Amino acid sequence: MVLDPEGPVLVEGPVEIVLEDGSTVFSDRFMVALCTCRRSRRYPLCDTSHRGKKRSGGSAPGKAGEE
Ligand code: FES
Repeated sequence: MVLDPEGPVLVEGPVEIVLEDGSTVFSDRFMVALCTCRRSRRYPLCDTSHRGKKRSGGSAPGKAGEE
């Protein structure tokens, strides 16, 4: 299992996921991305919607002092 604090949890498949309501979702992929942000339209499977939640507003490291 791989934990990414800003993305999905990656687990080796195949997996059967039991949801709060008792329903189940099965994936036979060799690696399954489980959504932790709850933005996925395919919840509990990650659909990469977590990527749209932020943008880096910082600037790239400069080369100050170079001429
Ligand atoms: S973690 Fe990827 S959509 Fe939620």
